[in-house]
Amino acid sequence: MSTQDPYVRFEICEQTRIGTLWLDGAGGVNKIDHAFGQALLDRVGELAEIEGLAGVVVASAHRDWCVGADLDYLYRERDHERLLGVVLALTRAYRALETLGVPVVAALTGSALGGGFELALACHHRVALDSGRVKLGLPEVSLGVIPGAGGTQRLPRLIGFQAALELISQGRVLPAPVAQAKGLVDALEPTAEAVMEAAKAWIVAHPGHKAAWDRRGFTWPAPAPDSQDARNLFMAGSAMLYKKTAGAYPAAEAAFTAAQEGARLDFDRALELEARLFVKLAASDGAKDMIRTFFFHKNAADKLEGLPHSEQPDFVKVAVLGAGMMGAGLAWICARAGYQVVLKDIAQPALDRGMAHIGKQAAKLARKQGPEQADAVLARIRPALELEALRGADLVIEAVFEDIGLKHRVIREVEPLMAPDGVFASNTSALPITDLAAGSGRPAQFVGLHFFSPVEVMPLLEVIEGRDTSSATVGRCLAFGQRIRKTPIVVGDGFGFYTTRVFTAYVLEGAQLVAEGHDPAIIEWAARVAGMAVPPLQVFDEITLVLGKHVVAGSKPYLGDRLALPGADLVARMVDELGRTGRAGGAGFYDYTDGRRVGLWPGLADLADGPPTETGVQYLAYRLLAVQAAEAARVLDEGILKRARDAELGAVLGLGFAPPSGGPLAWMDRQGLVALVGRLDYLAGSCGDRYAPAPILVDMAARGERFFPVG
Ligand code: NAI
Repeated sequence: MSTQDPYVRFEICEQTRIGTLWLDGAGGVNKIDHAFGQALLDRVGELAEIEGLAGVVVASAHRDWCVGADLDYLYRERDHERLLGVVLALTRAYRALETLGVPVVAALTGSALGGGFELALACHHRVALDSGRVKLGLPEVSLGVIPGAGGTQRLPRLIGFQAALELISQGRVLPAPVAQAKGLVDALEPTAEAVMEAAKAWIVAHPGHKAAWDRRGFTWPAPAPDSQDARNLFMAGSAMLYKKTAGAYPAAEAAFTAAQEGARLDFDRALELEARLFVKLAASDGAKDMIRTFFFHKNAADKLEGLPHSEQPDFVKVAVLGAGMMGAGLAWICARAGYQVVLKDIAQPALDRGMAHIGKQAAKLARKQGPEQADAVLARIRPALELEALRGADLVIEAVFEDIGLKHRVIREVEPLMAPDGVFASNTSALPITDLAAGSGRPAQFVGLHFFSPVEVMPLLEVIEGRDTSSATVGRCLAFGQRIRKTPIVVGDGFGFYTTRVFTAYVLEGAQLVAEGHDPAIIEWAARVAGMAVPPLQVFDEITLVLGKHVVAGSKPYLGDRLALPGADLVARMVDELGRTGRAGGAGFYDYTDGRRVGLWPGLADLADGPPTETGVQYLAYRLLAVQAAEAARVLDEGILKRARDAELGAVLGLGFAPPSGGPLAWMDRQGLVALVGRLDYLAGSCGDRYAPAPILVDMAARGERFFPVG
């Protein structure tokens, strides 16, 4: 017997009386849309009618098991009541399955994410395919919502509060083997068939099974919620969470509340509480903005939608010039992606340092995937001092010192050795690509590929088109970027392109606020309250004040005196007179002991004017975001940014611009452009021209426009 349904169908084996509930969504994907809950509830109702039902396997007819909420629906829906209805239907369906009275097993032959993984949690037992391809977990918080169909209730009851909240509040998704080690799944099997067999065998062995929390005498994984240990954990946990999020991530806090409050309630009431918290977030601008940037925009960029395409073949031999901080990392990620790599420097000690860094990456990979994997990657990297090693390279990425004369020399030296159709890329962080291409004999094949540090971790690749860069060159580089798994933005040329312009505005404003006499501790905290991933003085120390000084000086021919602020003078004084160059130098805005940040340097107060007429956390938080948003708008106005998508992805992925805002354009939309322009005019008058609203903002405000239509 079997039934047909657009989402879920079931069949029953006449011999074993085991039913299989097949997730069989349209288009080969199991997504949870507004009608899924009711469909599942209907099927479970039909299952309940079957006489002698021995148990149920929940299985997928597709490659993935269930990828979670249909984000097209979630992004559009703003009506609280409708959303609540949809979520409660889902919750009810999961609960009906869980309390069917027979054992229910999730046969996880593919990924189960978000609402999909919550369905797996509502099953009594989880068997997964033993493969890193199978990803499991609750990523909701990274999209500004919380799990809404029992995730914040079932996971803590399964693996304990601390472990569950760590995963949920960071939105972490784990490969199946790791998920098993953490108790998210019960068993692993080597093949999909074995997963199905193991699921059925478990049913046979556990007749009449109930969820642990539906059994009499259920005990929580320690600590039990009414114990003193749990009270301590909640207190410390919420303090720690606040320290981490500074209140800027409402979803992480709501997940904590749902788990903590839910523990005190009867299970069904707890599910309802969670559903209500979910709806409040899901209907908010915050969630819409995060979903747009981190899901729609990121996916579109990863699929290279609307970007140049090249018919030319992929690169084979990649040469990286300069084995410094960036070069060594670049060589490693290229070799990992399968390219043959030459890492070239001019000095043996520099090359040795670069290879030592690569050795550390290899050791990490060996621990994860075995020594053979790591050795295979290492075997693809050839360190070299001699130019001849570069012969035939079809992609060269230069990461030598940031000096235009040196870069020109290197370009002239290397180009004649390259494959005739090869591409020369510069990883400069600010120098205009057109100016660098003046040293090239084939500027159509010259491009900017701006990576971020640490290059193994940072997900963004900023591709910069010089005046003469061909679209085929960009297309080839985008295919390369896809292979090394970076999310691309493509921008026009100009000093600092996009990301360096905004990042410079941010860190220099940090220094400027110190110079104006604001309390440095409050500056740092305000940045966190604004949602910035890293506070400005801390990150300034990381990149070094020397670099900051260098960028300010280097900007003069291009931006005039735009960056010549008292803050920039303060940085120059710290470097030149006080020898405080940043973390690497052992002293900067912060003091360091053995490389560890120990606190803000008290001497900063003596370098400041002051006291400022206006200050406070909210004022500073606003300024730190506004100065970046104003700069982003200017870059857009100048035509360097070509897509709103790139403005958002570049800022959040490249420099940690407040992820909960969705990006600078979404942040401006949320202020309302009319109000924003007024506020920027005021700040331009009181703090300087860098706040002045770009013409595009003024025009859009006058026309009543926004960057993104309301969800
Ligand atoms: P680094 O100072 O760590 O390394 C530069 C390396 O280039 C040194 O090992 C040096 O020996 C080598 N070198 C100098 N002349 C050379 C030549 N003619 N041929 C081959 N190698 C040569 O510098 P880092 O930080 O790796 O930066 C390199 C480039 O990447 C710069 O243009 C920088 O602006 C850019 N960049 C840096 C980022 C960062 O966070 N450090 C981020 C993004 C871009």
